[in-house]
Amino acid sequence: MFYLYGEFILIYISDTSTLQKRLIIMSFSGMLKDGTLADKVIIVTGGGTGLGKSMSKYFLELGAKVVITSRKEDVLIGAKKELENLTGGSVHYVVGDVRDINDVKKTIDSTIDKYGSFNALLNNAAGNFISPTENLSAKAFDTVVDIVLKGTYNYSLETGKYWIDNKINGTMLNIVTTYAYTGSGYVVPSACAKGGVLTLTRSLASEWVKYGIRCNAIAPGPFPTEGAFSRLFPKIFSSFINIEKKLPMKRFGDHQELANLAAYLMSDHSGYITGEVVTIDGAEWIHKAGEFNWLEKVPKKMWGLISKSTRKKK
Ligand code: HXC
Ligand code: NAP
Repeated sequence: MFYLYGEFILIYISDTSTLQKRLIIMSFSGMLKDGTLADKVIIVTGGGTGLGKSMSKYFLELGAKVVITSRKEDVLIGAKKELENLTGGSVHYVVGDVRDINDVKKTIDSTIDKYGSFNALLNNAAGNFISPTENLSAKAFDTVVDIVLKGTYNYSLETGKYWIDNKINGTMLNIVTTYAYTGSGYVVPSACAKGGVLTLTRSLASEWVKYGIRCNAIAPGPFPTEGAFSRLFPKIFSSFINIEKKLPMKRFGDHQELANLAAYLMSDHSGYITGEVVTIDGAEWIHKAGEFNWLEKVPKKMWGLISKSTRKKK
C-alpha cells in the first residue's frame, strides 16, 4: 500500500512469507540545493535513455550544462528536447560510439566548442544481455567488454589528458554494478568489464589525485529501465519469479535515489572522496551473500528452542 505525504512516500509492506509488517519512509525528491552544479559541464555517455537520462535531468535541475552522447541520433534529439523542456537547462548532444576513440575525441571537441570546456564525466553507457557463457561467440564477448570497459577507458584517457593539460580539477564518475565485486554467471562479459571499470576507477583515482582529478564509481542494484530490464529480466521470467519481491527491501531503486547520489559525487561537496565505490542496492548483494541471512525465515517464536539447543549444556 502506498501513501503520498508531501515529498515523502510511505510504503506499508505486508510480506506474508516472513509475516513482517513494516512502514518504510522514502523520499524520492532531489536532495541538493539549487545551483549546486552551476559551474559544471558534464559529459554523460548513454545520456539519452534510462539512468543516464535521469541523472542528466537532475544535473540540469542543479544548474549543470549537460552533453549527452550515444549511437542513435533520434534518441538523442528526443532526450535533448525532453530534458530542456523539463528543466529549462542547456543540453548538447553528439552522436558517437564509445568504442571508437575518434568519436570520443569528436564528442570532447564538440563539448569544448559549445561550452568552452568541461569539468565532469559520467561513464554510464553500457551493453549487456543474459546468456550461458558457452553460447557466446568471441564477438559477443568483445561487444559487451568493448562498450563497457573500452568505452570507459577511452573517455577516461581523453578526458584525463585534456584536464591535465588544462589544469582542470575534474570529476569522473563510473557506473558499475554490484557483480563487479562478486562476479556473476550469465552476464560474464559484463561482469569482467564492470570489474575492470572498478579497478580503473581506483587506479586513476590514485594516479591522478596529484592533478586534482577525482574518480569514483556507483554500483547500483536493479533500477527499472527499458534497456536493462528488456535484456536482463525479460517478461518470460515473470511467470515463475518475482524479482522485485525477492529483494530485501521488496522494491526496486528509484531513479531519483541514484540521481541524488550521482549529483553528490559530481559536486564539490564530495571533494574529499576519490577512488570510492558506493553501492546503492537496498542491501541486495550482501543479503544474498551473507551465509546466515536465510535464518530470517525462522519464526521468532522458534528462537527460544533453537537457543536452548545451541547453548553449552551446564
Ligand atoms: C547471445 C548475443 C545477444 C544475446 C547479441 N549477441 N545479443 N549473443 N545472446 N542476447 C551477439 C550477436 O549475435 C553478435 O555476435 C554480437 O553479440 C554483437 O551483436 P550486435 O547486435 O551486432 O551488437 P551491437 O549492435 O553493437 O549491440 C550491442 C548489444 C545490444 C550489447 C548486443 O544489446 C545493445 O545495443 N545494448 C545497449 C544497451 C544495453 O545493453 N543496456 C543494458 C545495460 S544494463 P555474432 O558472433 O553472432 O556476430 C546493465 C545492468 C547491469 O548493464 C546490472 C543489472 C542489475
Ligand atoms: P540503458 O538505458 O540501455 O543505457 C545504456 C546506454 O548506453 C544507452 O543510452 C545506449 O544508447 C548507450 N550505449 C550503448 N552502447 C553504446 C556505444 N557503443 N556507444 C555509445 N553509447 C552506447 O540502460 P540503463 O539501465 O540506463 O543503464 C545505464 C547504466 O547503469 C549502465 O552502465 C548499466 O550497466 C548501469 N546499471 C544499470 C542497472 C539497472 O538496473 N538499470 C543496474 C546496475 C547498473 P545507444 O544504444 O543509443 O547507443
